[in-house]
Amino acid sequence: MAHEIPNPLETLTLPQLRERTSMKWRAFEPDVLPLWVAEMDVPLADPVARALTDLVSRGDTGYPSGTAYAEALAAFAAERWDWDGIAVERSTIVPDVMMGIVEVLRLITRPGEQVIVNNPVYPPFYSFIEHMDRRILEAPAGQDGRLDLAVLEGAMEQATAGGAGAAYLLCNPHNPLGTVHTASELEAVAALAERHGVRVVADEIHGPLVLPGSRFVPYLSVAGSERGFALMSASKGWNLAGLKAALAVAGPEAAKDLARMPEEVSHGPSHVGVVAHTAALREGGPWLDALLAGLDRNQELLAQLVAEHLPTIGYRSPEATFLAWLDCRALGLDESGADGRGNVMTSSGPAAFFLQHARVALNAGSAFGTGGVGHCRLNYATSTSILTEAVERMADAVADA
Ligand SMILES: Cc1ncc(COP(=O)(O)O)c(C=O)c1O
Repeated sequence: MAHEIPNPLETLTLPQLRERTSMKWRAFEPDVLPLWVAEMDVPLADPVARALTDLVSRGDTGYPSGTAYAEALAAFAAERWDWDGIAVERSTIVPDVMMGIVEVLRLITRPGEQVIVNNPVYPPFYSFIEHMDRRILEAPAGQDGRLDLAVLEGAMEQATAGGAGAAYLLCNPHNPLGTVHTASELEAVAALAERHGVRVVADEIHGPLVLPGSRFVPYLSVAGSERGFALMSASKGWNLAGLKAALAVAGPEAAKDLARMPEEVSHGPSHVGVVAHTAALREGGPWLDALLAGLDRNQELLAQLVAEHLPTIGYRSPEATFLAWLDCRALGLDESGADGRGNVMTSSGPAAFFLQHARVALNAGSAFGTGGVGHCRLNYATSTSILTEAVERMADAVADA
């Protein structure tokens, strides 16, 4: 019998975490509890650590080779999501999900054309897309955190007016709302996209991180998605952002577009990254299950802590991701001087307040586009003790204000 894997979120102590040199733990003063950028406070899964150690012991640090990553993802998708639609010949390695999105959008849109997003949404969607000379068109998610199909259709009409090309960057599951889109929602998306000639690019980086009770549906698994693309990676599920590698997967009718991907894009992912991601997908399932159980426990704990200590903050339990979207508007903290879209930290509003007065770092909602002002995003992929202390500090700050 396989031995039980301990909850990865309860393995590392605060002093150990403070020794880390990555962004999450280095951006703020040492008295700040950092619950912001999407890194997890977990050790590496054993199979990933072993694969890396073996590689290092062989001095095997050259260029990537072969299709093992795509094969591992195909097997993972078949087992976890009951979907055998990932064809190795319709996939290609890319440096990371964001660069993959940029390169795919370059293949299917022209400069000046519009890319639809469902705000509030992951801030780099704005900055990366605008940087590549495409324009963002916001199609806000509904009040319930789900896709608003009527709003989406309006955006598709607007984006394609006059015969312009357009794309829809779907976040599935959604960061920061934690929504897992259902098969029927995704089928409706595919039908709308076909009707309006909009190309769909699904960012499915959070696909492995669906919590108990919900089921991840890959966009390319639904009828009508054949002209779409998906970007996938083991990066969020196993905390491998520092080990650059992701996959762009084309639907059957998008394969010829993917074939136009310039060769230099495949020079970005590192061999070390590809090996780590492959090991995670191949052998990291039990570790992922232990993580998901811990995350589920944490999101329940967060709901209790917020209800008890910060009852004016609105919070809906996410179906996926390790990110919680906190509606802090009732605290009445003015964010009018917010530094604007795409900026993670702001000088006013709830995130700035909690940083200054609670010494807890959260992401400022205004960075997530229209509708984000007055909100914060909290990363709960940490220990229950850090999570509890963070919320208690936030509650004390509000009480003292
Ligand atoms: C929705 C989403 N897409 C992309 C990324 C970044 O992925 P990568 O580091 O592979 O570019 C993140 C990171 O948190 C994310 O949440």
